[in-house]
Amino acid sequence: MSLAAVILAAGQGTRMKTQLPKVLHPVAGKAMVQYALDLADALECAETALVIGHGAEQVRATVGARAQFAFQAEQLGTGHAVLQARDLLRGKTDAVVVTYADMPLMQAATLQKMIALQKSTGATIAMLTIVSDDSMAFGRIIRDANGRVQGIVEERDCTPAQLQIRELNCGVYCFDADWLWNRLDQLQPSGKKKEYYLTDLVALAVAEQRAVEAIIVEDGREMIGVNTRVQLAQAEHIMRERINTAHMLAGVTLIDPATTYIETGVVIGMDTVIEPNTHLRGDTRIGADCRIGPNTIIRNSQVGDGCEILACDLTDAVVAERVQMGPFARLRPGAQIGRHVKIGNFGEVKNSRIGEGSHIGHFSYIGDTEMGAHVNIGAGTITCNFDGKQKNQTVIGDEVFIGSDTLLVAPVQIGARARTGAGAVVTKNIPEDSLAVGLPARVIRKLTGK
Ligand code: UD1
Ligand code: CA
Repeated sequence: MSLAAVILAAGQGTRMKTQLPKVLHPVAGKAMVQYALDLADALECAETALVIGHGAEQVRATVGARAQFAFQAEQLGTGHAVLQARDLLRGKTDAVVVTYADMPLMQAATLQKMIALQKSTGATIAMLTIVSDDSMAFGRIIRDANGRVQGIVEERDCTPAQLQIRELNCGVYCFDADWLWNRLDQLQPSGKKKEYYLTDLVALAVAEQRAVEAIIVEDGREMIGVNTRVQLAQAEHIMRERINTAHMLAGVTLIDPATTYIETGVVIGMDTVIEPNTHLRGDTRIGADCRIGPNTIIRNSQVGDGCEILACDLTDAVVAERVQMGPFARLRPGAQIGRHVKIGNFGEVKNSRIGEGSHIGHFSYIGDTEMGAHVNIGAGTITCNFDGKQKNQTVIGDEVFIGSDTLLVAPVQIGARARTGAGAVVTKNIPEDSLAVGLPARVIRKLTGK
C-alpha cells in the first residue's frame, strides 16, 4: 500500500506570541516541523506535502527538499488546508495520512497501527483518539450504541452532554486516498467558526455507510499539540525524558537525568558517565568510557573514547581519545585536540591543532596554531594571533617547552625542542633546540647537549 503524508503547518500559532513561525521552534534542539518530516520518513511515505501559510518562506527555507509545499493563503480550516495538497498528491497513493507540524511527540509505531488498521479493515477513515479527563479543547468523538464512530464535534460546538465525552480526537487520520480527494471539496463551512472542518469527513463517510475505525492511543502525552510556550516546555520535558531513557538503556550512565540535557541525534558510547547539568547539543558524538560534566556544554563536537571533560564549554571541536579537560576550559570552532592532551583551567583553544600528549595546564589562549606532540605550554601563555588587521599563524614544534607568561606574536614559528623563558615576548622565529628569553625574546645560546 502506498502512502502520502499531508502535514498541516499553515496556522499562525497566535498563542505562542512569537515572530518565529511556531513550527520552527525547537524541541530538544530540533525544529518541530522536522519531527513531522521524520515521522513521514519513518512511515515510508512515498509523498510528503507540507501545507504552509504563516511564515511560509521561513518554513520553506528550513525544510528545503524534505517535502513538497502546498501554500494555503488563508487559514479557512483543517479541511481547506488538506485540500491545498490535492494537486500535489491526487492519484499518487492508495492512502493519505494527515498529521501536524506542532505535534512533535507522536511516535511512528502509533501511526503504523492506525495505517495497518485502515489497510486490514479497508476502512475509509482510520483515526487516533485518546481518553482523557483534560479535554485540551480537542474535538469529541461521537459513538453510537454499538460503539461505532459517528462523527466528531469540536469543543466549541458541543452540547453540554457532548462536552462530557472523554474520548477526544487527536486530529490524526489515515484516509482512503481516492475517497479523500473526491470528497474534500464537498465540505461546507461548519461550526461557530464557519471553517472547513476536516473532522466533518467522518460524519460524511458514516452517512455513506462507509467504515470508520478508531484506535485509542494509550499514552496521551504523545498527542500533545504545542500551542503555547507552556506546552512547548512540556513537549521538551517529555522528549528529554525519552532521549535520556534511550541513552540509559543503551549503556550510558546519567547520574541525574533530571538535569541532563541531550538533544535529539546526539550519540554517546557505552559506559560513558554523564554528570549533572551537562548539555550535549546539535551534531555531537561522545565516545565510550568518558566522564562528561558536571556543568559541561558541548555543541556540534566529537569526543573520543576515555575522555574526561569537567565543567567545560566546547563548540565545533574535535577531541581525540583520553583527553583530560577542565575545569573551565573552552574549545572554540576548529579546535582539534590530539590524544592524551591535557587542557586545564582557563585554557582556550580556537582553530588550532594540538598534538598528542601536549599539556596546556592553565590560563592560556591558543589560536590559529599548529602545535606538535608533547609540547608543554606554561601558565599564562598567549598566542597573539591578531595584529588588528588579520589573523596570523603560530607553529610550535614537537616537545617544545613554553615558559610561563610567554607571548607568541604571530606569525611565528618555534622549532622542535626549543624553550622560552618565563615572560618571553617572542616576535621572531626560534630555531630548533634553542632557548629564547626576554622582551622581545632573542636567541641567547644553543641549548647544551644538542
Ligand atoms: C483540530 C481538530 C480537533 C482535534 C484537534 C487535535 C478540526 C476541525 N479539529 O482542532 O477535532 O481535536 O485538532 O489537535 O480539524 N491548520 C492549517 N490551516 C488551517 C487550519 C489549521 O494549516 O486552515 C493547521 C494549524 O496550523 C494547526 C492544525 O492545523 O497546526 C490544527 O488546527 P487548529 O485550528 O489548531 O485545530 P484544532 O482546533 O486544534
Ligand atoms: Ca491545535
